[in-house]
Amino acid sequence: MLRSEFTNVIDLTDYGTDWWLDVVKLASDIYDAPEKYSSAAAGKVMATLFYEPSTRTQMSFQAAMLKLGGALIGFDNPATSSVAKGENLKDTTKIVSSYSDILVMRHPEEGAAKAAALTADCPIINAGDGSHLHPSQTLLDMLTLYREKGRLTDLTIGLCGDLLNGRTVHSMCNALCRFKGIRFVLISTEELGMPAYIKEMLDAAGCAYEENPSLEDAIGGLDMLYMTRVQKERFSSEAEYERLKNAYTLDPAKMAKGRDDLIVLHPLPRVDEISMDVDDDPRALYFKQAKYGLYARMALILTVLRDPKRGSELLKGEKHEGVSCPNAKCITRRERYLPKTFISRGGYLECEYCSYRQKV
Ligand code: NCD
Repeated sequence: MLRSEFTNVIDLTDYGTDWWLDVVKLASDIYDAPEKYSSAAAGKVMATLFYEPSTRTQMSFQAAMLKLGGALIGFDNPATSSVAKGENLKDTTKIVSSYSDILVMRHPEEGAAKAAALTADCPIINAGDGSHLHPSQTLLDMLTLYREKGRLTDLTIGLCGDLLNGRTVHSMCNALCRFKGIRFVLISTEELGMPAYIKEMLDAAGCAYEENPSLEDAIGGLDMLYMTRVQKERFSSEAEYERLKNAYTLDPAKMAKGRDDLIVLHPLPRVDEISMDVDDDPRALYFKQAKYGLYARMALILTVLRDPKRGSELLKGEKHEGVSCPNAKCITRRERYLPKTFISRGGYLECEYCSYRQKV
């Protein structure tokens, strides 16, 4: 087992549900009285290393730190850093973490945040690792549910769009399946369906779900509809993206079939999956949701800074002679020095970085 001494937030399940709920409640408190927290991070430095494009996640993390009275360093274009000279992830994050109290990282490769946490000198927050996870998005989605629905239990949640590649829906399933009475309706085409490892996780948690390719049929039974865009950057072929990109569009006709107490969320950016005619519907909460992101991230930063050495488990599995991860998007494929460890699950070996499962 390899532990980190720091309070890393790589995957929400690194901590118990009480920890997440405390973050959500703190975020709600900050939302109501942000001025109380205006110097809570005074003298602290947060680094944001974004190896992949971002608007909301990067800016809301940065605004959150500034509103807490802290300071920022970082890059949003690795081409302007030593990454362009061929520096590996370990060296970049080792150095930047020695300048910082907290390091927020987004990376196109799955498992990158965990890889960085293996050698970093401060807590790492995963701001999205490829198609894998996006825990701070899930915290803000939970804050939205908490404030707008008043509960995180007994909800029927429709997830619609690119469930194969969307890290936001993977993170949401990973977290919300642990609450009582959550039922997921997975709305996607066969090609964009939820990965097997997430469905197995739902089964293992005893969380009910059904698959329904028709948004029109499913919408009437939902408390919350979570729309997602087709993740263009994750497709190997442009033609395949073009074929699938318009799989779903939420429009006023479909909204008419939703209940009055339905809420519609989207992590954004939106491409064409929600028609702009829906924006003025009072049930469309995606812009408010993005605003909650600021408060969720203030709460997350503060929670980590208050207790930066809580410790977290990084690698629990074993090396297997001659076995490496076959997922081309796994961080272990690029950063060859990483210890390649796997967790045995039934007849599978699960990569500890990207969760990819291979048969043994
Ligand atoms: C999401 C992401 O980056 O995964 N955006 C975000 O963080 N708000 C969703 C997306 O890019 O589709």
